[in-house]
Amino acid sequence: MSLSETDLRSAIAREMPGVRADLERLIRIPGIAFDGFDHSHVERSAEAVAELLRGCGLDTQIVRHGGQPAVIGRKAAPAGAPTVLLYAHHDVQPVGDPALWTNDPFEPTERDGRLYARGAADDKAGVLAHVAALRAFGDRLPVGVVVFVEGEEEYGSDSLDAIIQAHLDELRSDVIVIADSSNWDIGTPALTTSLRGIVNLFAEVKVLKSAVHSGMFGGPVPDALTTLARLLSTLHDENGEVAVDGLIGREGASVDYSEDRFRLEAGVLDGVRLTGHGTITDRLWTKPAIAVLGIDAPRTSEAANALQPSAKAKISLRLAPGDDPKSAYAAIRAHLEKFVPWGARIEVTLEAGGAPCVIDATGPAFEAARAAFASAWDGAQPVDMGMGGSIPFIATFQELFPQAAILVTGVEDPHAAAHAPDESLHLGEFERACLAEALLLKNVAETLTE
Ligand code: BES
Ligand code: MN
Repeated sequence: MSLSETDLRSAIAREMPGVRADLERLIRIPGIAFDGFDHSHVERSAEAVAELLRGCGLDTQIVRHGGQPAVIGRKAAPAGAPTVLLYAHHDVQPVGDPALWTNDPFEPTERDGRLYARGAADDKAGVLAHVAALRAFGDRLPVGVVVFVEGEEEYGSDSLDAIIQAHLDELRSDVIVIADSSNWDIGTPALTTSLRGIVNLFAEVKVLKSAVHSGMFGGPVPDALTTLARLLSTLHDENGEVAVDGLIGREGASVDYSEDRFRLEAGVLDGVRLTGHGTITDRLWTKPAIAVLGIDAPRTSEAANALQPSAKAKISLRLAPGDDPKSAYAAIRAHLEKFVPWGARIEVTLEAGGAPCVIDATGPAFEAARAAFASAWDGAQPVDMGMGGSIPFIATFQELFPQAAILVTGVEDPHAAAHAPDESLHLGEFERACLAEALLLKNVAETLTE
C-alpha cells in the first residue's frame, strides 16, 4: 500500500526534530572547497552525508575525480517506477569577516523562526530536504532514487563533469530535482525555470616599474588605481546599464516584482538609485549584469604617499539565458583591452565560467511538482521564476540527460542571505519544502509509473 498525503504529512512532522538535529550536525562541519581552506572538513562533511544516506537505506559511496568528494546514494526503483535524481551540495561559501556575524557562523542559532549559520540554507538544508523525504517513506519509497551531493559547487564544480562522466549510468534518471534555489517568498513556493550563467575574470593594469613618490611624480604619471577605476567605469553607461558590446540580453519575465519589494530585500539605502533599464525581473533574470567583486590595492590605513604601479580587479559577469560563457568572456576581454586608458598595460585572465540555462517546465513531472508544492504550501500556487544566480551544471545535465525533467527547487527565501553574513533558513518554510519533496516523489511515482 502506498502512503497517502495524510501519512506523509504526519511522517514529515514526526521526522522534523531528527532532521533538524542532523542539519545542525552538518552545519558544524565547516566544509569549504575554496583553495587555501582546510579540505579535511569537506572530507568529514562528505562522510557525514554518506552516513545520512546509508541511514535512509541507500547504497552509498563517496566519489571524487581530482577535486572535492561527492556522495552518491542509490536505491533501485520498484518495477515500472521512475528513478529520481536528488541533487544538493554539501560545501559552503567562506564566511568572510566573522565579526559581521551575530553568532559564530558554524554554530547554528535559532532566532525568530530562522536558523542562522553558514550553509543553513545554501545548501545543507537542501541535503536534509532529500533526507527528510526519504525518511518519511521509510521502506515504502515508490520511486527509485539517486541522491547526488556535490562537494565543490561553491567553488565552480571543477571536477563535476568528470564525476558525472565516470558515474553516468548510476546517475541516469527520469526526473532530476535540484534543491539549490529559492522560493518566491515566504508562503509562496517556486519552480526555478531559468538561471543566469557566470564569467568571473581578473583585470590587472600596470603603469610603472614600481611605486614612486606621489608628490615628485604625481601629475604627469598616471597611478594604477585611477587607471583601473576609469577602466571599470566604462563597463556601464551613466545609468548603470551594461555597456559591453556582444552580450545577449532581453526583456521577458512576466512575474511582477515591485521595485519597493526588491529594494527592501536587497537592503538598498534610501536615495540610492537602481541601475539599468527594464523591469526588476528583466534586470535580474534575462539581462547581463557586471559587478566588481574585489580590488587588490593598498589598504587606506597603510597607503603611503606613493603612486601604485599596478592594480587588479576581480570582475563578475552574469550572463543572460541564451548567452555563452566563451563568447561573453571574449566580449568583455575585448572591451577591457579597448578601453584601458592612457596606454596602460592590461592583463585579463579568466577565473571561471558557467553556462546559463532555460528549462521548458511543461509536462507531467512539472505538473506533479506544482501539485506537490501547492499542497505543501496549503494551496499557494508555485511561481515559475527566473534566478539571477547560477547553477552551471544544469546545462550539463540537460545535455547528458535530454529526456529527464529537471525540477529546480530549493529551501531558500529572499531573506536567506546566502553567501553573506547571517545566512539563515526559515524553519517553517523548510518543513514545507521537506513535505513538498515527499509529495513530489509520491506524485511523480503516480504519474510516471508504467
Ligand atoms: N545556490 C546558489 C545558486 C542560487 C543563488 C540559487 C541564489 C538561488 C538563489 C549556488 O550555490 C551558487 O551560489 N552558485 C554560484 C555559482 C558559481 C560558484 C559558479 C553563484 O551563483 O555565484
Ligand atoms: Mn547553493
